[in-house]
Amino acid sequence: DWTMERFIEIEVEKIRSTVGDRKVLCALSGGVDSSVVAALIDRAIGDQLTCIFVDHGLLRKGEVESVVKTFSEQFSMHFIKVDARKRFLDKLEGITDPEQKRKIIGNEFIYVFDEESAKLDGIKFLAQGTIYADIIESGTATSATIKSHHNVGGLPEDMDFELIEPLRALFKDEVRAVGAELGLPDEIVHRQPFPGPGLGVRVLGEITEDKLEIVRDADWILRDEIAKAGLDRSIWQYFAVLPNIRSVGVRNEKRSYDYAVGIRAVHSVDGMTADWARIPWDVLEKISTRITTEVDQVNRVVYDITAKPPGTIEWE
Ligand code: XMP
Repeated sequence: DWTMERFIEIEVEKIRSTVGDRKVLCALSGGVDSSVVAALIDRAIGDQLTCIFVDHGLLRKGEVESVVKTFSEQFSMHFIKVDARKRFLDKLEGITDPEQKRKIIGNEFIYVFDEESAKLDGIKFLAQGTIYADIIESGTATSATIKSHHNVGGLPEDMDFELIEPLRALFKDEVRAVGAELGLPDEIVHRQPFPGPGLGVRVLGEITEDKLEIVRDADWILRDEIAKAGLDRSIWQYFAVLPNIRSVGVRNEKRSYDYAVGIRAVHSVDGMTADWARIPWDVLEKISTRITTEVDQVNRVVYDITAKPPGTIEWE
């Protein structure tokens, strides 16, 4: 893509002349924007870039591995993965309120990032994956008033860095095109929207490792079947949630009392409004059969047929 090649050339030059021989820090979330900004800056200044990736234990199955593999193998940056899973889980123990969860996860991310970056010497710049939509949305009263949207990447105010935001003028589809041009794998370039607090808001009520595993496994099956049905690029966002419900079922002629899993799949443009996706019934059937067969402690699958409004996309 000529336009994207040209964009990359120009930005690489700009980054080089701004940064010189100094160092840049970037918080990688595994999302499209932060990944593309990291790849772009890597192209410009290579190992003068350090990326910190905080594993908060709330990502989907396979995501940590995919980020680690891509960024530690494919690029020349310094890549730091922080295993903060236990730390987040401890902080979230006993917390059931969605907004409180968001606050804890957002704050904890900042503490961890802060601690890690304090160990580094001589960082002058902080790279952020701010895109055009972020600039438009901030300052207006959007859904932020309905749910506080703590993006991973929201950073402390007292940090003494200069900001680099090379994607500021781009739309999402342009960001994806730049990412593809820079050699990022499809699973990152075409990653669906994913909330900063991750699976933390998809395990309703108290978060436990056990419940995270259930929702992760169910979500993995859902994504697999959606991809097999060729729907992965046409449905805007789809995921599994674990409502805090157990119900009676029967398995091997025995009564079971296990969890229900909710499936959410929506069409949307910007997440502000949404309609539920009309997934073909045979696809839903496969998803349901596989989840109840392959995921321990699940005996029921329900499909969410609520538009936004009145529902929101996430259940918390
Ligand atoms: P809702 O649930 O508000 O979601 O209809 C709209 C879009 O925003 C995502 N979302 C979040 N993103 N931090 C984020 O970065 C959050 O706390 C958060 N809550 C919801 C949601 O996945 C959907 O794409």
